[in-house]
Parts: sequence; structure tokens; C-alpha cells
Amino acid sequence: MLSSLSLKAPAKINLYLEITANRADGYHDLVMVLQSIDLSDRLDIHTIGSDQIFIHCNHPEVPTDETNLAYKAAKLLQDLYPDFGGVEITITKNIPIGAGLAGGSSNAAAVLVGIDRLWNLGLTQGDLRELSAQLGSDVPFCISGGTVLAVGRGELLSPLPTLENLALVICKPRKLGISTGWAYQTFRSQGLLATKSQPSHSSQMLAAISSRDESSHRQIARLLYNDLERVVLPAYSEIAKIKQDLEAQECLGVLMSGSGSTVFAIAQNLESAQRIAAAIARDDLDIWVTSSSSHGIQDLESESA
Ligand code: C5P
Repeated sequence: MLSSLSLKAPAKINLYLEITANRADGYHDLVMVLQSIDLSDRLDIHTIGSDQIFIHCNHPEVPTDETNLAYKAAKLLQDLYPDFGGVEITITKNIPIGAGLAGGSSNAAAVLVGIDRLWNLGLTQGDLRELSAQLGSDVPFCISGGTVLAVGRGELLSPLPTLENLALVICKPRKLGISTGWAYQTFRSQGLLATKSQPSHSSQMLAAISSRDESSHRQIARLLYNDLERVVLPAYSEIAKIKQDLEAQECLGVLMSGSGSTVFAIAQNLESAQRIAAAIARDDLDIWVTSSSSHGIQDLESESA
């Protein structure tokens, strides 16, 4: 029986996010293309004798109580399987918070995957996806990651051909996080569904991802789209400014990820991404140069009792 394991929990970006309907449950129907990226948190999970759940995190603004999504993931499994005791979870954060990069969702996905292994529960991918959808709309995607079409609330997933080597500049205003709930509710209260800013072009995006020819990264970059920009950019001029600054560089395309506050650029290659990152560097911005990843939650190491 395993006593501890360590997992890598990657961030994601949205290459496409279109809101297609207001739902009666307060959520929104979406068409999204989600992409895992090579920027991840590390989770170390240990079984403990008592039935408590402890969370530790190196980031001072991450709550370590029952409001943390990783805690909720552990509690969900503990309530279903009460005979296995508790867990101690240490989260080493690299993914910024309030960033639209699904850091919290990815941590929760790692806790489900990790506890399933530690307690030898034998959950299938389908079981994990069903449990994860109870925790948040992005958590099911985070389990298997890669390049995925997500519809419904974001929990109905269809894998797409893996996007290799998409060079990215990820850019976040250091002190600004955006509430996802606020962004969606503002979109609804402003009636933006009725006033489409662009005709839907998700099918063109899916065709570009599937095309795999030389120009596919260029086409994908041209088709980037996020409906939530329509509420977030007018309300937060600093995010609009980052987008403008990136667009003035040699980028193939620029988009806000999820509900923000991160804005990312697709670059021609990693050297170009490094040049873009250097050109827009400022004290109040966190910037990463990274690339697309085909991985969801991955094992780092494990230890038996
Ligand atoms: O599912 P999750 O808890 O991650 O969503 C956070 C918030 O984002 C929800 O409370 C809801 O306001 C909004 N949301 C939405 N429609 C979706 C996904 C999220 O309105 N499909």
C-alpha cells in the first residue's frame, strides 16, 4: 500500500471560450477549447492515521482550510470511503491564483487522482470525471488534460488532436486576480449574449486544430476568441493594456485566458516568445515563457508503507 505520492498538476489556457446560453442553474452553456500548458504546481499527498485533512501551501494567499478546492476534493472521497483515514496535502504553487489558468481546479484534480492511488480505490476515468464535476466546471478537464473541446458547463469533454510545441508567453498583472463568478454574472446582467461581438467560429477553430499542416499554429492564433473579454477588458484597463502591449509585439495571436487576469500570446517559436517576454517585462507583471503540454495530472514519485 502506498503511503505517499507526489503529482504534477498543470495549468490550462482557453484557446476559445464562447458563451452560448444562460442556464436555469445560474451557470452558462459554453463551447471551449482547453489546452494544458507546461506550468504546474506540485502536490505531495501523505496518508495519515487520524481522519483529518491537512493542507499546507507555500503561497500565503492560498487558504488552507475547508474552502480550498483541494480540501473539498479530499473531503468528497473521505465521505464516500470513510474507512481510509485522512491525508496531509502539501501544495507547492507555481501557477498564479485568480489567473484564469485553473490552478485551483488542477490541484483538486490531483487530489482525486492521488487519493484514488493511495487508497487503492480503483476508480475509473469516468468515476473520476463524475466526482470532479461536483467540484468545479474545469476540474474534469484537468484530470486528463491535453487539447480538449469542452461543452455544457465545461464538464462534457471530447479530446482533440494534441497541439505540439505551441510557444506561449503567459502574462499576469501581479496584484490583480479576477473572480470567475463575477465575470460570468456580469456577462449575464449586461445581456451580452443577445449582442454577439463576432459570429461563432468554433468549427473553424476545431478544423485548424485538426489540420496539422505547417500553418496550423498561425490559423489557431488568428481564431483565438474569449467572450469574457467583453466584460473584463472594459472593467480592468490594466488587462486591456497588457493585451495591447502584446499585440504590438511579433505575436501570432493574443487572448485573455478564462476570466482573466492572465493574457497569453502565441509566438512563432520559443526564441520569439523569449523576445516578446523581454520586450514587455515590467515590475508589476509576472511573465512565463512556456509551451503547450499533452499531459493532465502526472506522477512524480511515490513511496510504499
Ligand atoms: O464551476 P466553477 O465553480 O469553477 O465556476 C465558478 C463560477 O463561474 C460559477 O459560480 C459561475 O458563476 C461561473 N460559471 C458559469 N458557467 C460556467 C462555468 C462557470 O456561469 N459554465
